[in-house]
Amino acid sequence: MSPFEPIRVVGPVSIESTESDGRGKGMLGSRVVLVSQAIPGDTVMVRVDSQTRGTFGGRVRRVVDPSPHRTTSPCKHEFWCTGCAWIGATGDYEAEMKRGRVVDMATAIGVPVEVIGALRRPSPTLGYRHYAKSEFGSRQGALILGSFVSGTHWVVDNDGCPVLVDELSKTTSAVLRSAIAIGATRDRPETRGLRHVLARRSRATGETLIVVASGRDDASDARAVVQQVTALDPSVTSAWTLAQTKASNTLLDGDLVHVSGKTTITDSLLGIPVQIGPRSFFQANPACAEAMFEVALQLAGVGNRVWDLYSGVGVLAMALATNFAHVSAVESVPEAAALIGANAASARVNVVGLSAKVEDYAAWAPLAGSPDVIVADPPRKGLGLLGVSACTESSAQRLVLLSCDLTAWQRDVGELLRRGFLVTAVEPFDAFPKTAHVETVTCFER
Ligand SMILES: C[S@@+](CC[C@H](N)C(=O)[O-])C[C@H]1O[C@@H](n2cnc3c(N)ncnc32)[C@H](O)[C@@H]1O
Repeated sequence: MSPFEPIRVVGPVSIESTESDGRGKGMLGSRVVLVSQAIPGDTVMVRVDSQTRGTFGGRVRRVVDPSPHRTTSPCKHEFWCTGCAWIGATGDYEAEMKRGRVVDMATAIGVPVEVIGALRRPSPTLGYRHYAKSEFGSRQGALILGSFVSGTHWVVDNDGCPVLVDELSKTTSAVLRSAIAIGATRDRPETRGLRHVLARRSRATGETLIVVASGRDDASDARAVVQQVTALDPSVTSAWTLAQTKASNTLLDGDLVHVSGKTTITDSLLGIPVQIGPRSFFQANPACAEAMFEVALQLAGVGNRVWDLYSGVGVLAMALATNFAHVSAVESVPEAAALIGANAASARVNVVGLSAKVEDYAAWAPLAGSPDVIVADPPRKGLGLLGVSACTESSAQRLVLLSCDLTAWQRDVGELLRRGFLVTAVEPFDAFPKTAHVETVTCFER
């Protein structure tokens, strides 16, 4: 099957509920049908993208009878690109569903509903993303840049994606135009070519960092693209190529080469400037991140010693230094860990950066001292058992957990409860409006 033709259409399907990834769920006979961007209350015809014996997965081909919660989509790629599960829903319904999910998942593991706050929506619901990941693909022989259709390896175009800040959208369009201008092709086993683009725009300075990845050993096509883009778009102040010759689920696996401009860009959160490199994590929605950090700082309180686990380039650690005499920041990506020291030195803030995996706490904890409080902001897979152990085996009486995946959050919270921590507050955030993601800041006390 291809994303374009031929297509198989099934239905009508009444959408009754929503899966954790935001897909609408209905039944067709004994088969479960999971439909991207279908909303409970919709009846839809479904174009099938994937199937197993018991399920169809697909996209809306036609809305036969719309849900009362449906509204006009702001995106021309609705029902084509599957990136935003709630793109066609009213904002109020999206918020109700997101908070409802937090409440259901929390109460299922014994967290009292009274400690769960309202869903906060600190950023605009469109034009909020400062970080874009785009895949190269092709349509009728022409090169396109877009994203994977849910559950498949098909790439569909999403130019002008409305959740990206405008300027970043323009940069990714410039990348595509440049790639077409030099006659580049997408990567295939038989003819190696372009794979994907990562682009990050600083809200504070407008600087943009791009990485163009190629399946070629020498990334010569990516290099030619990067040279064109930097000539076209002066906001691109840091440009890189990545030679990624093997299949990988990790976007930055491979040989990363600096092509032009500076090696970092500068952004800032809560007024704290930080340098960010191509391998460094930085929040994609800075307006929401600031609001989450403010809540996390308030919940962390005041004390002598704090650990910031999974610290990235150290922005939260630096903010914590206002209320704690000693701050240790633990980060596993060497580039980001090295930037903690540089960032703290330029801000004249006292933060000790440790380049280590949190789960190797036996090695780094003696260097970090005994904490009163831990703030942890793990990646999507959560703390896991060893991350939980790093917290529970420390002296910390309080833990503030920032979480970006509700399934991992539920598992981590369950484990922390079993090990004697109590949940005192859960604050949900709509960090990625229109998508299915919900972030939480959770406070625990021993
Ligand atoms: C969600 S980000 C949070 C970063 C930081 N709090 C911020 O807001 O900029 C998670 C960070 O954890 C790092 N990381 C991932 N796995 C890790 C591990 N096992 N130990 C330490 N750091 C890890 C990632 O590189 C990333 O910088």
